[in-house]
Amino acid sequence: MSMKIPFFNQRQLNNSLQVSDQDTPEHIAIVMDGNGRWAKKRGLPRVAGHKEGVSTVFKIVKAAAKCNVKVLTLYTFSTENWKRPKSEVETILRLPKEFLHIYLPELISNNVRIEAIGDMDNLPAHTREAIQYAIQRTRDNDGLQLNFALNYGGRTEILNAMKKMFSDMNDSKMSLDELDEQRFSRYLYTADLPDPDLLIRTGGEKRLSNFLLWQLAYTEFWFTDVLWPDFSEKEFLQALDEFRNRKRRYGGI
Ligand code: IPE
Ligand code: IPE
Ligand code: MG
Repeated sequence: MSMKIPFFNQRQLNNSLQVSDQDTPEHIAIVMDGNGRWAKKRGLPRVAGHKEGVSTVFKIVKAAAKCNVKVLTLYTFSTENWKRPKSEVETILRLPKEFLHIYLPELISNNVRIEAIGDMDNLPAHTREAIQYAIQRTRDNDGLQLNFALNYGGRTEILNAMKKMFSDMNDSKMSLDELDEQRFSRYLYTADLPDPDLLIRTGGEKRLSNFLLWQLAYTEFWFTDVLWPDFSEKEFLQALDEFRNRKRRYGGI
């Protein structure tokens, strides 16, 4: 039987970093960008960058679990990414299955719970089934929640939420008077999640690209030029450090 090696030891971590969980973002969202450019720089096909990016995902999941982050949401495939060449789309959509094939046992033994947000119905069956299997296998875990944003688009999410809400109003399950931000949030894919405290985008671009438009209203942003396959625990901890020094005012003084 193989020995289970936990991602980290809580006491060791607290001693080495000298920070309390109170300073750690509860929910981190990441736009994992720059795979194509990473490959191009090396004279490789773009898909080589996507494949290399898979191991970064695992490294960052481990780093987030070590730091006691509660939720990690990874932008994996956007509703706009269908515009890419068919072969690239196919490769990207095969990666969740490959990732889970390699890492699911370790994720399970480290108490990670897997979830997904986005329009799952329009994904290839093999992608959807791999994710659904992982969700089902990890649903009783109560450690880090790892959310894959797959076929995710912020505007579609808001429109779908509105459709469901109007339908509930039609069925008298909810009245217009009851509608407020909290009630509306419950119709989003992220219904049960806190809003992200920190958004990280790798790869140098400074835009949202249709990610979590509603949920990022008061999120702290951290950008880096480092391309996703080169992103490591070092930069992740740097982002956390900077987050700890931010003053969040939410419109106050
Ligand atoms: C991000 O890397 C991964 C996905 C969008 C799936 P890109 O493929 O966008 O890489 P660049 O931005 O072209 O370098
Ligand atoms: C955002 O990256 C989507 C994902 C990382 C999944 P893109 O590379 O698609 O974003 P744009 O096209 O540069 O805005
Ligand atoms: Mg990109």
